[in-house]
Amino acid sequence: MTTRISKAVIPAAGLGTRFLPATKAMPKEMLPVVDKPAIQYVVEEAVAAGLDDVLMITGRNKNALENHFDRVTELEATLQAKGDAEKLAKVMHSTSLAQMHYVRQGDPRGLGHAVLRAKMHVGHEPFAVLLGDDLIDARDVLLSRMIEEAESRTATVIALLEVEPEAAHLYGIATVEETGTDDVVRVTGLVEKPPTGSAPSNFAVIGRYVLQPEIFEVLEQTPPGKGDEIQLTDALQTLARTGQAGGVYGVVFRGRRYDTGDRLDYIKATVRLAAERDDLGPAFTAWIKEYAAGL
Ligand code: G1P
Repeated sequence: MTTRISKAVIPAAGLGTRFLPATKAMPKEMLPVVDKPAIQYVVEEAVAAGLDDVLMITGRNKNALENHFDRVTELEATLQAKGDAEKLAKVMHSTSLAQMHYVRQGDPRGLGHAVLRAKMHVGHEPFAVLLGDDLIDARDVLLSRMIEEAESRTATVIALLEVEPEAAHLYGIATVEETGTDDVVRVTGLVEKPPTGSAPSNFAVIGRYVLQPEIFEVLEQTPPGKGDEIQLTDALQTLARTGQAGGVYGVVFRGRRYDTGDRLDYIKATVRLAAERDDLGPAFTAWIKEYAAGL
């Protein structure tokens, strides 16, 4: 019997140094993409895939994250008194989205270490991990497809994106075999951020994972790797190599993904999502065409 997957884990303890000084006193996950904090897109994605139990792995300086998903009764009362239902709905939405839980990472010892902090909360169930820096366009399907594959195969499923060889050193890279199912591959090996020119393929791991609970024992045995950090990729490599807990499969994503951890990509995401919005889009698109013509 397979367990229905209902828990999402979102590591959000990173320092966000690429966005200094914006992230000096504010977590990077709270940076707005148009008018919504990046983290809210990620929680909405989890909820849309049926995961309404969300555990965030946070760190120091992250109180704003908890506050964002909590009620603000004074603001609600003010908006209520003004009869501003639209803004009230915006304020209340993030509060009612999911059942939010928080645990602090303590020592920042890598992504694998952050995921290990979820062990108590997750227990012996498969679960999803969503990395806040990767924004998947809500119009494209990824996580629900990964969950289906993980449930039907009782295996670990990761998200893969084909990248240019020059970008491979920024990602975990997977060696894969065909499975006979469209866009689903079997992962035979994984390496975290291989040096330029040595990547075994162009299949990059992007920040969505559906993991089996055995990952926790494997992570406990995984020594620090790249950057002297406990790498989730290294634990997944163990599963891929041994076939333990059903082995590892990849869903190849061909939709729109934005890396909001990178300043240029963050700006592109903001521009694209604003241009495609019904409220802001027409005026913004007209302006940007005029602006670009003058460059
Ligand atoms: C992490 C993972 C890496 C993965 C990437 C996707 O790296 O360690 O394997 O490819 O996320 O965004 P980070 O970008 O957090 O350094």
